Amino acid sequence: MSDSLASKYIEIQNVEQTFKTAKGPFCALQNVNLTVAKGEFITLIGHSGCGKSTLLNLIAGLTLPTQGSLICANREIDGPGPDRGVVFQNHSLLPWLTCFENVYLAVERVFGASSRVNGTQAETKAQLKERVDNVLAMVGLTAAAQKRPGEISGGMKQRVGIARALSMEPKVLLMDEPFGALDALTRAKLQDELLAIVAATQSTVVMVTHDVDEAVLLSDRIVMMTNGPAATIGEVLSVNLPRPRSRVDLAENTDYLHYRKAVIDFLYTRQSHVEKQAA
Ligand SMILES: Nc1ncnc2c1ncn2[C@@H]1O[C@H](COP(=O)(O)OP(=O)(O)O)[C@@H](O)[C@H]1O
Ligand SMILES: [Mg+2]
Repeated sequence: MSDSLASKYIEIQNVEQTFKTAKGPFCALQNVNLTVAKGEFITLIGHSGCGKSTLLNLIAGLTLPTQGSLICANREIDGPGPDRGVVFQNHSLLPWLTCFENVYLAVERVFGASSRVNGTQAETKAQLKERVDNVLAMVGLTAAAQKRPGEISGGMKQRVGIARALSMEPKVLLMDEPFGALDALTRAKLQDELLAIVAATQSTVVMVTHDVDEAVLLSDRIVMMTNGPAATIGEVLSVNLPRPRSRVDLAENTDYLHYRKAVIDFLYTRQSHVEKQAA
């Protein structure tokens, strides 16, 4: 891969997203420009309703922009694709399937059919099963493989969602507040696991969060969004903390505290009018 492609793996150019509503057009995002390098971990942070999910859905190809363009690995994003694995906040598992089967479905779709585009052969059932076993082991779910979503905790369901996205070996992992609904201890554990997995897979990640500590712990860069309507990127903060990162060591690290304060200042000083607007 050329250096220029590696540094511009995802390119978001002058993106605008206007929704048609009963009250007329609503401009959620305007003039959004961002370039993400291969292997980078980006978090999108901003107040509720500012357009984080809207932007992530555009990168996922679940919606198309009303203006501007989005490019991934030199190709225009014109729909969802296996090169971009998505983890939703509500895990969206099929309740009648086991954890294994939920992941197997995704693996079968990507690797179970021969591809005329890549010239790859369909994998055998044993090969597909091995992929599922490996990825379930990666997220620590081997023992729960035969359980259904109703029989496991919220944190475990979220792990299945992550395993499912990872199983497709996506070039880009897109996550929308994946740990938002979890208690603080479970969230911390999954953040640590995610850091280890991303270090091993060298994935490019774009993750939405509203948690300042999560953003600083995980990110190479934190993309801070202004409040809507017509939200855009207000500031981008590079987090130059060495990896691997340990939450225990960082708690007293002055650089960590400095980054944390910069994000809090942005959210609660410069973009603080969100509550007043809503009142
Ligand atoms: N399909 C839609 N139709 C109309 N308005 C929408 C739609 N999706 C999102 N919005 C509006 O766009 C804004 C941004 O929403 P969203 O991206 O979900 O925010 P966030 O994820 O940052 O909380 C909100 O005002 C929301 O009401
Ligand atoms: Mg959202």
